[in-house]
Amino acid sequence: MTEYQTIEAHETGYRDGTIKLHGAEAFAGMRKAGRLAAEILDALYDVVRPGVTTGAIDDLVRTMTLDGGAVPATLGYRGYAHSCCISVNHVVCHGIPGDKTLKDGDIVNIDVTPLLDGWHGDSSRMYLVGDVALKARRLVDVTYECLMIGIEQARPGARLGDIGAAIQAHAEANRYGVVREFCGHGVGRLFHDAPEVVHAGRAGTGPELRPGMFFTIEPMINLGKPGVKLLDDGWTAVTRDRSLSAQFEHSIGITEDGCEVFTTSPAGRHKP
Ligand code: MF3
Ligand code: CO
Ligand code: CO
Repeated sequence: MTEYQTIEAHETGYRDGTIKLHGAEAFAGMRKAGRLAAEILDALYDVVRPGVTTGAIDDLVRTMTLDGGAVPATLGYRGYAHSCCISVNHVVCHGIPGDKTLKDGDIVNIDVTPLLDGWHGDSSRMYLVGDVALKARRLVDVTYECLMIGIEQARPGARLGDIGAAIQAHAEANRYGVVREFCGHGVGRLFHDAPEVVHAGRAGTGPELRPGMFFTIEPMINLGKPGVKLLDDGWTAVTRDRSLSAQFEHSIGITEDGCEVFTTSPAGRHKP
């Protein structure tokens, strides 16, 4: 049974499995946090190029987050010690920034979560490093389409399963694999909350979407098979078959007649 809980903007609530329903003040908070996430991701298009290290990008994300009056929610989260996740090529998600130098032809996901006035703006986009092969660019384009097709399903009365079903159909029509091990999630005052937003499944199943729900949609799509494995660092997830993987993420809120995307690029830099 799905339980919903109406909460006030000043309440954090608990990670107790309930789906939180938020009001206008919470929407305003998420709008600000989401906008900062989007501005940070916008700025990174001028930074991601051959020769730059992922650690330098992480430093920049931390600086931009702090300058925006926020803190990176990942810093210190379950022992994670960085300001964003940077996932290159066959890394599916949770790539750890460090000495790694980006090179011509790489595809890169950067995932940021500024925590602003107690609200989490969680978003990620893909970046192309120099000249990228057509096959890889197609994967990136279709992954963006998967996110937007998922968002199109998000309105009151729809079911959570409608989102995953639409994403899976589009990915598999292109013969890509949809990662099952990582999901979107409720978001708000909590970084990761109920519900789990799976990116594959059956339409008409799962919790009903109601106005005031906040969650992320963040499909991870592989050029090859859907399987992933975790590296020994305990964070980095890679494709089992070493095929390329792409991901885009938005934080959204269900409104009376559809949804609001909190993390839309103000500059129109939605994808590379
Ligand atoms: N931002 C990621 C997400 O989309 C979570 C990263 S948690 C970390 O949910 F600890 F790996 F940074
Ligand atoms: Co997320
Ligand atoms: Co994220």
